[in-house]
Amino acid sequence: MLNDILIEAKKIAMYFPLTKGIIRQRKIAEIKAVDGVDLAIRRGETLGLVGESGCGKTTLGRCFLQLLRPTSGEVFFEKVDLCRLGDNQLRPVRQGMQIIFQDPFDSLDPRMTAEEIVAEPLRVHTKMRGRELKDKVADLLGIVGLNPSMAERYPHEFSGGQRQRLGIARALSIRPKFIVCDEPISALDVSIQAQIINLLEDLQGEFNLTYLFIAHDLSVVRHISHRVAVMYLGKIVEIANRDDLYQFAQHPYTKALLSAVPIPDPAVEASRERIILGGEPPSPMALPSGCNFNPRCSVGIDLCQQEVPPLHQVGRDHWVACHRA
Ligand SMILES: Nc1ncnc2c1ncn2[C@@H]1O[C@H](COP(=O)(O)OP(=O)(O)O)[C@@H](O)[C@H]1O
Ligand SMILES: [Mg+2]
Repeated sequence: MLNDILIEAKKIAMYFPLTKGIIRQRKIAEIKAVDGVDLAIRRGETLGLVGESGCGKTTLGRCFLQLLRPTSGEVFFEKVDLCRLGDNQLRPVRQGMQIIFQDPFDSLDPRMTAEEIVAEPLRVHTKMRGRELKDKVADLLGIVGLNPSMAERYPHEFSGGQRQRLGIARALSIRPKFIVCDEPISALDVSIQAQIINLLEDLQGEFNLTYLFIAHDLSVVRHISHRVAVMYLGKIVEIANRDDLYQFAQHPYTKALLSAVPIPDPAVEASRERIILGGEPPSPMALPSGCNFNPRCSVGIDLCQQEVPPLHQVGRDHWVACHRA
């Protein structure tokens, strides 16, 4: 499994123009939401993607799925460059890729029953109808731990955790290979979060799924990820297999994020040192020169204000973009 890459982004950039004027729109600035990301996801793995709100995680996930067409770069899915495909050619490929959202309330049509919600992708992508479709939906509801007798209910009649299960059933219906899980548990009660994580893990084994699992802090992705990538202002600043990242983090930003993760051992927890980052992250409209992190970094040197540090390898499966690593 390890070197079999399912989906790979090469030099992906997504810039949003900021315009002014109503009649003649002028571009006054550019938001560099994703700025030159190389990221390969291996078949059957969960890649955790972590970073502060606004750093570009959702945008990157949407570029993978071509829900956003990147400004530049390539996305290879099973060796086909999706960025070169037209919308018609993309349609069959889209069956292989799905997304699960943070709050399924926003993504599930409130006027549709659970059954209609789960059946919809099957109607679009397959010829399944009638009894066969009904049975398939009941099957899917069972797989995600919902009682098939709930098929006639509407989204508002479900709890948050159940709604997320419904979103998962819908995503699973057309047997995707790759799922972007965009903060799928951030809106849920802590007691429910572990259930959804466990469900996603079980489904991964059962259906050989590959996940890009987005979260804004490192505690959430620890359990589920095989590898973890840390993003800062549009760039990947560190990526490693899970244990290396949590034990031997190299980037000062990763270290700061890690220092915010509670440690289950009370003795160690008492002596945990928290690194408080100074200042706000700079705006993606006006990035600093050199390393994006340099205005908040405590170990920076002159070079950090001049040159963007490239991702370089520091261990077998461990890459860091820092001049000081
Ligand atoms: N459609 C859009 N138009 C303009 N700016 C956008 C759009 N989508 C996202 N952005 C901006 O891009 C940056 C990254 O956003 P996002 O990918 O949602 O970050 P995250 O998911 O990490 O919170 C933010 O500054 C956000 O305001
Ligand atoms: Mg987001």
